[in-house]
Amino acid sequence: MSGEPVLGYPIVVGAKALDRVAAIARERGYRRAVVLADANVESHARRAAAGFGGEAPLRTFVLGEERKTLATLGAVYDALAELEVDRGTLVVGVGGGVAGDLFGFAAATFMRGVPFLNVPTSLVAMVDAAIGGKTAVDLPAGKNLAGAFADPVAVVSDVRTLETLPPAQIREGLGEMVKHAVLDGEETFAQLEHWASEPFERWPWAELIERNVRVKAAVVARDRLEHGDRELLNLGHTFAHAFERVSHYALSHGSAVAVGLRAAGIAARSWGPWPEGDQRRVVALLRALELPTSYPGLDVDGVLAAMRVDKKRREGRLRFVLPRALGDVVSGVELDDAMVRGAVERCTR
Ligand SMILES: NC(=O)c1ccc[n+]([C@@H]2O[C@H](COP(=O)([O-])OP(=O)(O)OC[C@H]3O[C@@H](n4cnc5c(N)ncnc54)[C@H](O)[C@@H]3O)[C@@H](O)[C@H]2O)c1
Ligand SMILES: [Zn+2]
Repeated sequence: MSGEPVLGYPIVVGAKALDRVAAIARERGYRRAVVLADANVESHARRAAAGFGGEAPLRTFVLGEERKTLATLGAVYDALAELEVDRGTLVVGVGGGVAGDLFGFAAATFMRGVPFLNVPTSLVAMVDAAIGGKTAVDLPAGKNLAGAFADPVAVVSDVRTLETLPPAQIREGLGEMVKHAVLDGEETFAQLEHWASEPFERWPWAELIERNVRVKAAVVARDRLEHGDRELLNLGHTFAHAFERVSHYALSHGSAVAVGLRAAGIAARSWGPWPEGDQRRVVALLRALELPTSYPGLDVDGVLAAMRVDKKRREGRLRFVLPRALGDVVSGVELDDAMVRGAVERCTR
């Protein structure tokens, strides 16, 4: 049920984990808590709040990526002040990746930091956003531009909350799961291949999420502040971010990651030892999961330009994370322009 605390805090995954939030808080020394939630998951948040003696106060916020802003952050600070939160009060945040990033940042900065317990309720948040201690809000100038590294007291994922998550949102998390499977290797990859043909209701979510948590946590533990190794988690993402931007965000992040993973594989084929058979398996898995593997009609030069903008922000060199084999991924690969163009061309027709 509980992941190895390689990051120094427990990551609990299981059915009915919501009912254990208060007990986990008490184990960590917190008796007083307030619960902040995405309004869409209020019923789940109520269950988390109920376990605290006298029930913890609950505040809900209408969220969504377009509300991951300084304005919403201001409203969250106001609620924390009104609830008389201090450093002895645990802030419990319930919701998807937007909620975790926003409430986590609020907690990291309110009174210079109050303790935060993250209760992710979307697949993206369970396998990705809630792991690794990155918090942020968006600025008009770009996504996640104001934020902090701040570890939570604990992460508690109740897989039963996924029962209310729309299938399209489940799919948003699958691209990252394929990414983690390529990073981790054959066993994890084959497990996902096995379940891909089964309906979501049958998936052993707790087991799959725990495995994904282990993969991400292991990478993060080697490089918490993102100076090097953590880059491996950007597999497929240099392409994905450019696809997203040039599509004017018509392509969701999860879909862009899927196309980006295929693109990274194509580039890896022209660069190094990544086997044709493994590339075929990645593409077949993405398709079995009903994820896109191309975005026809996207402007190739626009995508290449968008990648160069990204590169300017990152010290001038366009460097890629590429697979050499399942379970063997390298970062910092500089590719010839023609290889990058070739990959983009194939993924835009
Ligand atoms: N901090 C990190 O390391 C990190 C990593 C990846 C992504 N992120 C961030 O995460 C965000 C994306 O996360 P997301 O996809 O979870 O988006 P989200 O939080 O907007 O959730 C997606 C939708 O699902 C709803 N929802 C969530 N849980 C639900 C449930 N159990 N039942 C019904 N509806 C539910 C939400 O209200 C929302 O409408 C982005 O802002 C991204 O920047 C952060
Ligand atoms: Zn991603």
